[in-house]
Amino acid sequence: MLIVLLGPPGAGKGTQADLLAERLGVPKISTGDVLRAAVRDGTPMGLAAKAAMDRGDLVPDDVILGIMKDALDTPPAAKGAILDGVVRTEPQAAGLSRVLGELHRRLDAVVLFEVGDDELVRRLSGRTVCEKCQTPYTGREPGTACDRCGGTLVRRKDDEPQAVRNRLAVYQRQTAPVIDWYRRHGARLVQIDAVGTTDAVLQRALAALGR
Ligand code: AP5
Repeated sequence: MLIVLLGPPGAGKGTQADLLAERLGVPKISTGDVLRAAVRDGTPMGLAAKAAMDRGDLVPDDVILGIMKDALDTPPAAKGAILDGVVRTEPQAAGLSRVLGELHRRLDAVVLFEVGDDELVRRLSGRTVCEKCQTPYTGREPGTACDRCGGTLVRRKDDEPQAVRNRLAVYQRQTAPVIDWYRRHGARLVQIDAVGTTDAVLQRALAALGR
């Protein structure tokens, strides 16, 4: 299955992408993870993206289109993928559709995770992530070890209050219109109440996808 995950920052896209990827036996592709790795490695793409990411702004569409094309055109993604945060603007939605056409592939569904702003701010202000495997945690101190890989937990720079406020505004301005773009283009759009335990949210998503 090839699925796009949409939703505001902190909605749980990364968390659910890992769970869905495992359940459906396909890889997760996260542009946020790819960009953070590029920043860590100091590549030209990382150096160019860092300032925008730290502020909570989007990186340019052409950078994202390059990442999505490279990631989709690989053997592991041939049988499907969970696209986490890969589409955040209307040009990116159109670009993905073009790339999929070139690869003779089609999108099976767009899953929108819905969470209110107060809960999003609560989740992001308490989040640490593993700097190695990117697993997110709530209520765990920076410097402690990741349960999954033993890496060190850190706070993301874009989880500081000013950047979180900007990310929520950027989502409303640039990403929320993507929902209508998919409606207009006849995609199978599935809306999920993403408040509840991670397992409850996963079960809702699987049921909505008919899995
Ligand atoms: P990205 O890393 O994708 O950030 P984001 O979209 O802001 O999403 P988050 O990772 O903050 O949240 P999430 O929805 O994945 O939630 P999570 O599972 O972590 O992108 C970072 C930046 O890269 C962007 O701001 C932009 O600059 C750039 N970028 C990336 N893609 C781009 C694109 N396509 N175009 C342009 N720029 C792009 O969960 C959040 C917290 O909540 C965690 O602590 C988690 O443990 C907890 N949690 C999860 N589920 C639950 C639950 N059900 N109940 C309670 N807590 C929960």
